[in-house]
Amino acid sequence: MEKLRLLKDYLIYFFKSTNQHGIHSPFVFELYNNIIKDQTSFYAFADIESIRAMLLLSKQEIEVKDFGAGSKLTTSNKRKISSIVKNAAKSPKYGQLLFRLVNRFKPSTVLEIGTSLGISTMYLAAASKKTSVITIEGCPTISKIAAINFKKIDFENITLHNGSFDEILPKIIAKENVLGFVFFDGNHTKNATLTYFNWCLEKANEQSVFVFDDIYWSEEMKCAWEEIKKHPKVTTTIDLFFLGIVFFNPELSKEHFVLRF
Ligand SMILES: C[S@@+](CC[C@H](N)C(=O)[O-])C[C@H]1O[C@@H](n2cnc3c(N)ncnc32)[C@H](O)[C@@H]1O
Repeated sequence: MEKLRLLKDYLIYFFKSTNQHGIHSPFVFELYNNIIKDQTSFYAFADIESIRAMLLLSKQEIEVKDFGAGSKLTTSNKRKISSIVKNAAKSPKYGQLLFRLVNRFKPSTVLEIGTSLGISTMYLAAASKKTSVITIEGCPTISKIAAINFKKIDFENITLHNGSFDEILPKIIAKENVLGFVFFDGNHTKNATLTYFNWCLEKANEQSVFVFDDIYWSEEMKCAWEEIKKHPKVTTTIDLFFLGIVFFNPELSKEHFVLRF
């Protein structure tokens, strides 16, 4: 049922979405052509993908702490590392988009809510050594493996926190002056998504960029995305189906783009 619903939503998105010809905003036009659709390959991509390949080959089974939403695939608390990376990690296409977005906006701080094995974290961190990437993972075993992965490429700009979002996110946010870039990729319920959005909003400025994963993942996530778009502080948004990008710059119009990716 869920798969059918997702397929239907994808078809609606596909026919609604436009390419550069339907974009009249100069900011979005530039972003779409030069960043979203860019195909340039960077050395870091191969390094990160070699870690993904190793994880995909792993036969090891680990004990995972289940946080409910986000684990539609299994209720068991034993999971193969290969299955975690296959199902939870952003694909190269989206990881590389995250890299390009950080590279383009050069935030001093990136906050990632949902590390898993750290694939997307490494893309976020590889974009700029000057950017400090804070990432949070609730499952202790998964975060230990993520930490090992970060050491493999010597990422010095990643700070990994292990704990439940509800408990540690407020403390982490309180320590930051500005959240320049936030990637929301864990606890895909409407309530949690909107709660974390509102918490992060406290430290957003006009240049901040928020990226939401899986905005069509469930009816709840679709509702959360609609509410985010309506928020008075939100100006332009971009819907790429598997990711939603949010801007707060008041110089941009309040407009919601659905773009083919
Ligand atoms: C979709 S995965 C993140 C994938 C990762 N960003 C990537 O693309 O490589 C979401 C992660 O969030 C963690 N998570 C979900 N809900 C959580 C919660 N309430 N507190 C802490 N961690 C949570 C899960 O354990 C899972 O590893």
